[in-house]
Amino acid sequence: MGTNDDLLARRAAIVPQGVPRVTAATAASASGATITDMEGNLFIDFAGGIGVMNVGHCQADVVRAIQAQAAKLLHTCIHVATYEPYVALCERLAGLLPHGERTKVMLLNSGAEAVENAVKIARQATGRQAVLCYTGAFHGRTLLGMSLTSKVGYKAGCGPFAPEIYRHPFPNHFQAGDGLSEDAFADRELARLRQAFVDTVAADALAAILIEPVQGEGGFVPAPARYLRGLREICDEHGIVLVFDEVQTGFGRTGRWASYEHAGVLPDISTWAKSMGGGLPIAAVIGRANIMDAARPGTIGGTFGGNPVACAAALATIDVLERDGLLGRAEEIGAQVRRRFEELRRRTAVVGDVRGIGAMVAMELFEDGDRRRPARTLVGEVIAACVARGVLLLSAGPLGNVIRILSPLTISDADLDRGLTILVEEVERRAGARGSRGQTQTPELTTKR
Ligand SMILES: Cc1ncc(COP(=O)(O)O)c(C=O)c1O
Repeated sequence: MGTNDDLLARRAAIVPQGVPRVTAATAASASGATITDMEGNLFIDFAGGIGVMNVGHCQADVVRAIQAQAAKLLHTCIHVATYEPYVALCERLAGLLPHGERTKVMLLNSGAEAVENAVKIARQATGRQAVLCYTGAFHGRTLLGMSLTSKVGYKAGCGPFAPEIYRHPFPNHFQAGDGLSEDAFADRELARLRQAFVDTVAADALAAILIEPVQGEGGFVPAPARYLRGLREICDEHGIVLVFDEVQTGFGRTGRWASYEHAGVLPDISTWAKSMGGGLPIAAVIGRANIMDAARPGTIGGTFGGNPVACAAALATIDVLERDGLLGRAEEIGAQVRRRFEELRRRTAVVGDVRGIGAMVAMELFEDGDRRRPARTLVGEVIAACVARGVLLLSAGPLGNVIRILSPLTISDADLDRGLTILVEEVERRAGARGSRGQTQTPELTTKR
């Protein structure tokens, strides 16, 4: 096997720079919550392949299901010949995540595709075109996905974007709470949305309101439960399809199958991908049957969507999440991360906020604790230092000043603790810590670094 540098040089020579490379890590193999690079160095994985590996890397039952299915049927395309794993997975998803009395499900390959199809379905169901989405949102990198995505840096130079997209401020209580209680803030933001129907887009022109109940790329920002309940009422009042994008929040990450369960609000349609497939590319649109059936034959679907092997992986993934109690484990992981981040916040001014639900926890950093100075550079340095010490992790937020944890839910307490200790040390080292205790550095993890 070559060295890390060899592989990175080969990549640089052949893969266009536009495909992001956010760490210097390489990966040759992975198991559970650890990744081994080309040179045999071990990483504790706090990135989970961007929220994909809830069930852990190369989970044995998932791998077995993939192998068995691969030996039996690789592909027909669901448009051409109906196969059981597609139907079984749809049935399973409808059972786990019912959307009203009757639920229907379609399968795709990626989160962006799921969002695209959700919009196409909502448009056909309502006969309307407009879609309202939010600042800070991330919905993928296809053209419609990018049009719905907020962060300018993700889409620079890629326009023109899809029309009839209206962007509204996400109810970010930390950023815009103005000292209001969360409920009072939610009421103010719902009033602001009603105002947008007067000055931005008419409610009866809207096919859909699309929101991440907890923003992922946007910095792990939960929308207040009261706001989501208000959205439900507004959508019912105006015949708007309410779409929740659960691509990053999904499959146990927040301690429930869906993050919307925390708010007790049911969408008309929801979108899923990432951790649903245990590492294989698969996505779903789940929705109320009458809305899902409004899409005319041939307007939704695709060659590979719901490939048999990916369906087998997803079915096995759901089995493992259930059998091994990983939703409960998400709560435990979240509590441990939150405790460590909160302790750090008490010691250093740079940590301005600690937030999230279940195991979807992040901290937002500011230079010298000044909320007008997002600590993007500091976060970049911390992440690079953690990677160099064997902890793979990611930033988030439009300003890049959020550190998020997306570890597999199978991570051991020891690995979690070790990874967090290194992360905390690297933040504190740069933070000009108030009352720093002058800790000694935790020994390196890696075998041969
Ligand atoms: C909330 C959300 N929606 C959609 C997507 C796009 O998913 P994919 O990259 O699989 O197209 C992402 C990816 O990060 C996401 O976080």
